[in-house]
Amino acid sequence: ATLNRTFRVDDFEAIARRRLPKPIFDFYAGGAEDERTLALNRDVFQRFGWTPRVMTGSGTPDLRAALLGRDAGMPVIVAPMGAVGYGCIEGDQLLGQVASDFDIPYTLSTTASTSIEQIGASVPGRKWFQLYPLKDRALMKGLIGRARACGFETLIVTVDVPVGGKRERDLRNDCSMPFRFTARNLAAFASRPAWALNLLRHGPPGMPNLSALAPASKRASSLAPSVGAEFDHAFGWAGLAEIRKQWDGPLLVKGILRPDDAERTLHAGCDGVIVSNHGGRQLDTGIPALAALAAIVSRVDGRTPVFFDGGIRRGSDIAKALCLGAAGVLVGRPLLYGVCAGGHAGASRVLTILRDELSRTMQLCGAPSVNALGEDLLRDLAGAAA
Ligand code: FNR
Repeated sequence: ATLNRTFRVDDFEAIARRRLPKPIFDFYAGGAEDERTLALNRDVFQRFGWTPRVMTGSGTPDLRAALLGRDAGMPVIVAPMGAVGYGCIEGDQLLGQVASDFDIPYTLSTTASTSIEQIGASVPGRKWFQLYPLKDRALMKGLIGRARACGFETLIVTVDVPVGGKRERDLRNDCSMPFRFTARNLAAFASRPAWALNLLRHGPPGMPNLSALAPASKRASSLAPSVGAEFDHAFGWAGLAEIRKQWDGPLLVKGILRPDDAERTLHAGCDGVIVSNHGGRQLDTGIPALAALAAIVSRVDGRTPVFFDGGIRRGSDIAKALCLGAAGVLVGRPLLYGVCAGGHAGASRVLTILRDELSRTMQLCGAPSVNALGEDLLRDLAGAAA
């Protein structure tokens, strides 16, 4: 019943907040330090206003788009997210299956609650794998081989976590990943008995992709709650070159905010970049992701696709990123809230809402296809007395 009364993707955040224990909801929703970048990721969309073209006579827009050379239902990709299993036991599989229903790619995180093999077996559509640089190069190489063997088509290397962001909600809530019950956080779970029972029934989700690690290295540090000792905190361009040699499919680098880094990524032989600040979870007071997009698109100049994520909550946000040159956008929290609020149906409804809003926005702007979304449809209101 509640799902039928959801009209915008933010409605799912409210439901997820009611259903999840506070430490889990806050882990999902939170950002680093003062959460300025988290807020800016949203606010920056207001900087751009539409200047719609009328009477184009083009009717219902065509949302299909090429993503890395293959046609997709719309220019949207499910963002990689760790620890989804704490909010929805089968959340990773469900997100993968919903993505397949919509004919869009799903990305599995290194720190997901579900293994590469389980996703390989249960997700019929396009699968991308997100890799964190690991100190243990043999383990990293193993992950790459497993992803290839399980039919993952694209590898994303996330480079904006040389150290975990300082997420103060997690510190306050005594929340680290993998999660541990402590005297301080136990009460929060007791206040969500349905959630707690479900977790007890299934057992706490782990990080099966990293389960080959020795137990000692799995221990999370309390000041870097989401980043264990296994991450390579000194990863550099040489490491990227090594990965390039091990993966012959499309390789994207996620967490790029500077044109010069985008340029170096191309020189390293990668097939594209993802402009992202990790949803405001890493470096606080970094620029909003959308503000980084145009300059990077202009530097890359069509040599490879430029993807984007951060703060997409409306179909018109997707359209704005495309106008500024993105080849596609990744959506994170809205889908996470959707699956936590209503499983398959919830995530499905989030994508339906975004798709409907995107279509409507395009039609209202006179854009018959995603290729017709250009900068001329937007006005940058920054500095104007708007
Ligand atoms: C993330 N993100 C992320 N990114 C990544 O490369 N590997 C990961 O394991 C995770 N894990 C993760 C967990 C949670 C709970 C969140 C919310 C985010 C970042 C994610 O891929 C994406 O960059 C942002 O979420 C995009 O911003 P929005 O759409 O959430 O505003």
